[in-house]
Amino acid sequence: MSEFFRGRRLRMTQRLRELTRETELRPKDLIMPYFVLETEEKDLVRPISSMPGQAQLSPDMLEAAVERAVRAGLGAVILFGLPVKKDAVGSGAYAEDGIIQRATRRLKERYGQDLLVITDICLCEYTAHGHCGLLSQEGEVLNDPTLELLAQTALSHARAGADVVAPSDMMDGRTAAIREALDDSGFVNLPIMSYAVKYASAFYGPFREAAASAPKCGDRKSYQMDSANRLEARREAEADALEGADILIIKPAGPYLDIIRDLRERLDLPLAAYQVSGEYALIKAAGANGWVDESAVTLESLLGIKRAGADMIISYFSADLLQKGLLG
Ligand code: PBG
Repeated sequence: MSEFFRGRRLRMTQRLRELTRETELRPKDLIMPYFVLETEEKDLVRPISSMPGQAQLSPDMLEAAVERAVRAGLGAVILFGLPVKKDAVGSGAYAEDGIIQRATRRLKERYGQDLLVITDICLCEYTAHGHCGLLSQEGEVLNDPTLELLAQTALSHARAGADVVAPSDMMDGRTAAIREALDDSGFVNLPIMSYAVKYASAFYGPFREAAASAPKCGDRKSYQMDSANRLEARREAEADALEGADILIIKPAGPYLDIIRDLRERLDLPLAAYQVSGEYALIKAAGANGWVDESAVTLESLLGIKRAGADMIISYFSADLLQKGLLG
């Protein structure tokens, strides 16, 4: 008679392990980010050097990439735009024929309800200074004057057919401002997926190359959160929930699993985690060197994010995992 716990009993065969598995990654949990170029040219694929396997795509190439991924089971994309021109007020973000608006129309025409098109709402890709809000003469990122522009951006995405809008700028009050603007224009059923908890992270490095959105001066620490803070994440998440967010994003994901778990236990809203560009780059680099098994490490890190409490994950690995059939 054994007097100790025989945990191995349930691990003895593959079937037993499957039967007792607590967490599962499903294809429809994943959201794939794409970078779209504003261009009339076709066949343009500009590889992003710090994100091997990812590229800036002309609209036709976006469509081709999305088609491959959708065939493999992808259910949702999030779009980032690269405008031809940038200016002080980020006009390209809320232009009716801006790149995201056009790409969204195109994807919605093609896929209808078979594909969720989520659009990122932020000014940083569209401002010449690279900040996520308007800048004062003194270089301060202005909160309240930015809200109107974010609301306009959301509305223009809504009119283009976006299924979900995702504000990522971290200005205070933007969720309320966007909700009000959407409701006033009749988009009462358009969900807001708010980047409620977004840390000022060095893990965004490769994205700033990908989206050409690095700030030209200063950093984002006056609006993005301090990595050391956990209670602040609760305050941010609760504030966004009250302002009307339907889904909350926590970002980055891997280094912030405690935050995901905390919010899972405190709030009843669906949670999304964003496995960001730097997390992707690290796995790709180690994989390319043969130091780790890329697919296995990717699946393990995504499973960890899900186990921590995320209902869905934005990951640059999404399309590839599905196309390789690695999610069953
Ligand atoms: C800002 C935005 C950023 C990311 C998504 N939206 C970058 C930033 O705040 O500097 C980062 C995504 C990633 O690193 O993969 N609009």
